[in-house]
Amino acid sequence: MLWLEGEVALVTGGGSGIGRAVVDRYVAEGARVCVTDLNAERLAEVAAAHGDAVTTLVADVRSLADNKAAVAHAVQTFGRLDVFVANAGLSDMFRDLANIPEENVEAAYDAVYDVNVKGVILGAKAALPALVESNGTLVVTLSNSSFWPDGGGIMYISSKHAALGVVRQLAHEWAPAVRVNAVAPGATRTNITLPEALGTDADGRPLRAHAHESNTDREVERVVPLAKHADPADHAAAFVLAGSRANGAIMTGSVIETDGGLGIRGMRRVRGGDDLRERVLGGGAAAAGSSLAAPTGGIDG
Ligand SMILES: NC(=O)c1ccc[n+]([C@@H]2O[C@H](COP(=O)([O-])OP(=O)(O)OC[C@H]3O[C@@H](n4cnc5c(N)ncnc54)[C@H](O)[C@@H]3O)[C@@H](O)[C@H]2O)c1
Repeated sequence: MLWLEGEVALVTGGGSGIGRAVVDRYVAEGARVCVTDLNAERLAEVAAAHGDAVTTLVADVRSLADNKAAVAHAVQTFGRLDVFVANAGLSDMFRDLANIPEENVEAAYDAVYDVNVKGVILGAKAALPALVESNGTLVVTLSNSSFWPDGGGIMYISSKHAALGVVRQLAHEWAPAVRVNAVAPGATRTNITLPEALGTDADGRPLRAHAHESNTDREVERVVPLAKHADPADHAAAFVLAGSRANGAIMTGSVIETDGGLGIRGMRRVRGGDDLRERVLGGGAAAAGSSLAAPTGGIDG
């Protein structure tokens, strides 16, 4: 039994990264998906990959008219809308307030908040009638940055905290007719970019925050308890659960954290189990099973 059989979803920013992985997995779970993005080339790739199971539309989440057109397109094409995934987002690549020039600070704020906060609210506004009609659900892509500092800079962290507020308030406002939940990924290898107000590359193109270079992988692996720089597909099952009428039925206002365990980082060590296999299975007198064993490794603190 597929988890989204017969459901119709709309995924914003579905041309790339986490949104694309959600589209791929939703289709595999039996959904038909309307995919929106600003980038027409990426949408063409999604359409080529999925044929009749998807329909695509260039739409800007910062515009209510575009969001309404996207919802209308989904309903026109597939007859209904069950799941709206508000996913499109912009990064700020750890730019702290002291390092944003005065002349850019207002534009940087507007650019990040327009997508990460206003985009979610406008998408929700546009989708509400169709979701009420279907007893559907809203799923928002949050971040570890919705809970903790320093996974981004001032604009990204504060915007993702605000988006958590949107999730909680709408979950309240829309219960019991429409469930509202979120997935909060941690660092993930995607194409996420910065607004121009925070700089461009030598050719004037948007900067990318999560380069695929191995040193970024190593940096992330060092600070994440599960020691993994995630791939977009690692988060997809959480979106399936949140979007599933049957299996997510008792969840609203919930956030599924798919961040490699940032909430259980230790003070002495990022993680306590680097040598767990050796201690449990390795045979030595390394105190397997002993709750009185002295902690190993790490720094005093
Ligand atoms: N990459 C990470 O490490 C990470 C971690 C946690 C959360 N997230 C969140 O995941 C979500 C998706 O980001 P991603 O990392 O997959 O990035 P991505 O850039 O790979 O994908 C985002 C897509 O959104 C589109 N987009 C941007 N602005 C848009 C707009 N105004 N209207 C419509 N589409 C627009 C882009 O063209 C792009 O195709 C974001 O909400 C982001 O904050 C990312």
